[in-house]
Amino acid sequence: MERTLAIIKPDAVAGGHSGKIIDRIIVEGFAIRAMKLTQLTKRQAEGFYAVHAERPFFGELTEFMSSAPCIPLVLERTDAVAKWREVIGATNPADAAEGTIRKQFAASMGENAVHGSDSPENGIKEGRYFFSESEIVSNGADVIDA
Ligand code: RTP
Ligand code: MG
Repeated sequence: MERTLAIIKPDAVAGGHSGKIIDRIIVEGFAIRAMKLTQLTKRQAEGFYAVHAERPFFGELTEFMSSAPCIPLVLERTDAVAKWREVIGATNPADAAEGTIRKQFAASMGENAVHGSDSPENGIKEGRYFFSESEIVSNGADVIDA
């Protein structure tokens, strides 16, 4: 089992798409291990995206991510990182495949509805950025097959 960090970004929360995105997470076979609604400070957003600090879009990105509430989630599944990136689609929604979350809900490259970790190592690290050990459940949140 592998973990990835997903974020329902401020544009998708404000647009009323959170429920549909959480439903998609469950339908795609992820177990939700942690989830919360939170508004990042600019500093928290800068820390989260520190790898992009030198990029020209860093200011815009961190302004946007701290502009309104978002929903970080720790997701668990076999091949969680690759599978979640497949489900969310390309960074630029104009390039995102049909049926992906970004194709369905994202308006632009900057406001692209969801985040996904880019490696299993970062999946763990990013989960810890938002959640303490006791906030991440190790079991009990699976969907029971009736
Ligand atoms: P994310 O980290 O949010 O899941 O997105 P990603 O891996 O698909 O893309 P990444 O390269 O990590 O970029 C992080 C976020 O920065 C914004 N961005 N803007 N204007 C631009 O050229 C540009 N490039 C990236 C996007 O919002 C992207 O999700
Ligand atoms: Mg990324």
